[in-house]
Amino acid sequence: MDYGEELRASLPAGGSGEILYVYPSIDSTNSRAAELARQGVPAGTLVVADHQTRGRGRRGASWRTPPGEAIAMSLVLRPESADLRWSGLGAVAVVDALAGMGVEAAVKWPNDVLINGRKAGGVLAEAAWLGDRLDFLVLGIGVNVGIHAAPPESEVDFPATSVEREAGRRIGRVDLVVEVIRSIDHWSPRMWTDGFRRRWEACLAFRGSQIVVSTPYGDLAGALQGLGPDGEAVILKDDGTIAHAAADASRLRPR
Ligand code: BTN
Repeated sequence: MDYGEELRASLPAGGSGEILYVYPSIDSTNSRAAELARQGVPAGTLVVADHQTRGRGRRGASWRTPPGEAIAMSLVLRPESADLRWSGLGAVAVVDALAGMGVEAAVKWPNDVLINGRKAGGVLAEAAWLGDRLDFLVLGIGVNVGIHAAPPESEVDFPATSVEREAGRRIGRVDLVVEVIRSIDHWSPRMWTDGFRRRWEACLAFRGSQIVVSTPYGDLAGALQGLGPDGEAVILKDDGTIAHAAADASRLRPR
């Protein structure tokens, strides 16, 4: 069976991914999912590609998805509001899925997936608006799986790795996609509960450590305390005051 047939046979019936589009090669699964959403596909429609030619990352970066080596998946959602929690959901789902496969990972707030302190995956949540009403949201998830999937250091602003490089064994892409979807379907109805916030917080890398968060409004430096009620990073600044960073476009790095 090829990747698409295997995915179709493995995704749980009645959940997200029941409507599935799989491409051997595409520009970006997020772009394709947005096109499909504009054509009216229902929430839960999943777009997966073996290879992306113009994969997109956060803050205008490009994202590599070499053939046979990585996961590129985008889920169409139709929530009431665009919210930082959706990005967190993608990252928590990857951490959950990896944990189920015996690989320990963490979330670099808000939504990067780290293994042994290096980035193995990322999330790009893109909202589409009709005036001031949210039309749909595309939750794009990329994971470097094979040992050749991680981009060279020259191309990234944070050290990169892949799941297989860190795990030291083969990891099935289909199993990983299925488990990510299972976790998304578990958490998405619970996203406004404190249980989800606590799960996201429990996944945090650098908790208690000195960090800097670059936000569109400037840098915030201090010790990462945890997450606020809406998933914002809570930072204890050097002057003893508390700051909250809430922008999805924020970037956290160790200090
Ligand atoms: C980041 O860390 O900058 C986010 C990376 C998100 C990449 C995924 S791969 C699937 C989906 N399609 C895209 O073009 N981007 C996202």
